[in-house]
Amino acid sequence: MKAVVYDRYGPPDVLRIEDVERPVPKEDEVLVRVHATTVNRLDVHTREANRSNGAAVSMLSRLVSGIRGPRRRILGTEFAGEVEAVGAAVREFAVGDRVYGNTGLAFGAHAEFLCMRESARIAHMPAGASFEEAAPVSDGAFNALWCLRSAELRKGQRILIYGASGAIGTAGVQLARYFEADVTAVCSTKNLELVRSLGADRAIDYTKEDFTQNGETYDVIFDAVGKHSFDRSKGSLEPNGFYVPTDGFRNLWLTLWTSRSRGKKVRFQLPPRYAKQDLVLFKELIEAGKFKAVIDRTCPMEDVVEATKYVETQQKTGNVVLTVSRA
Ligand SMILES: NC(=O)c1ccc[n+]([C@@H]2O[C@H](COP(=O)([O-])OP(=O)(O)OC[C@H]3O[C@@H](n4cnc5c(N)ncnc54)[C@H](OP(=O)(O)O)[C@@H]3O)[C@@H](O)[C@H]2O)c1
Repeated sequence: MKAVVYDRYGPPDVLRIEDVERPVPKEDEVLVRVHATTVNRLDVHTREANRSNGAAVSMLSRLVSGIRGPRRRILGTEFAGEVEAVGAAVREFAVGDRVYGNTGLAFGAHAEFLCMRESARIAHMPAGASFEEAAPVSDGAFNALWCLRSAELRKGQRILIYGASGAIGTAGVQLARYFEADVTAVCSTKNLELVRSLGADRAIDYTKEDFTQNGETYDVIFDAVGKHSFDRSKGSLEPNGFYVPTDGFRNLWLTLWTSRSRGKKVRFQLPPRYAKQDLVLFKELIEAGKFKAVIDRTCPMEDVVEATKYVETQQKTGNVVLTVSRA
């Protein structure tokens, strides 16, 4: 089968298409013919061994992915496709089923085929969704769901989402709306209309207004692109409010530190515990018209280097999808 492989950490050009052996499903595994996948931030950070995040994070990244070079040659976590074969013990899926999911740190989705245990993060696709629409649901959206849960977001609470136009942010706006919170989205001028259309009650253009100076306060400040900080957010938090980041080592310490005292808290948990059940939740939300992954662009797998370079600009709106084989 064809797959995007890499043998050393480095810039996007280390990626190339190669013929590799097609995986064979074990007894409890499903073989999926991948139709669509994504290039997300986990892919780009893993490929460069998190060098852009400093030496300590890079060392941790190598401990997870391989000290000298990548243990797993194929990146890609999110996927949507069709079941091609099943192991003898598989009960939930049958050949021909349309499925979607997330391989997590096992990666392997930038390929024509992948194998997954049926108990892992794989579920039937939302009815009516295309492969391209289903693939980008299980990274940014899972991340956002995890963050909003950790902030214990409730109906009627006020949440500000900083970086509302990225993969996590666009999902965060829709989920906060689903939780019936009052949503303020912060993004640049070009994305104001988008975040309003996703359900934000109001949108702030950070190129024109600093939300920390407008006197408003929030129960939750969700920093969805890692561009803000607890220190800068504190003054805009309610006395028992939560600052929820998606990034930053320092936030781990702040989470521990603030958990010991009363008042404003940081909630940042690693690793996020995504569940198979969450795929079922998103299937229901998508079928009910309450969630849709925002897609910036869709490219063929052959264009993975260009797609990766684009993701690295940190300017994508929502998600970048790769199509793998003709649906
Ligand atoms: N380490 C990992 O493995 C991993 C995995 C997943 C996510 N994450 C973290 O999760 C966060 C978000 O990931 P993502 O994939 O959702 O990001 P993303 O999609 O790449 O975010 C892109 C968006 O960020 C906005 N942006 C760029 N600079 C900004 C700034 N200075 N202030 C506010 N917004 C800005 C841009 O929109 P505007 O033009 O509207 O500003 C753009 O739409 C990142 O911190 C990422 O590192 C990490």
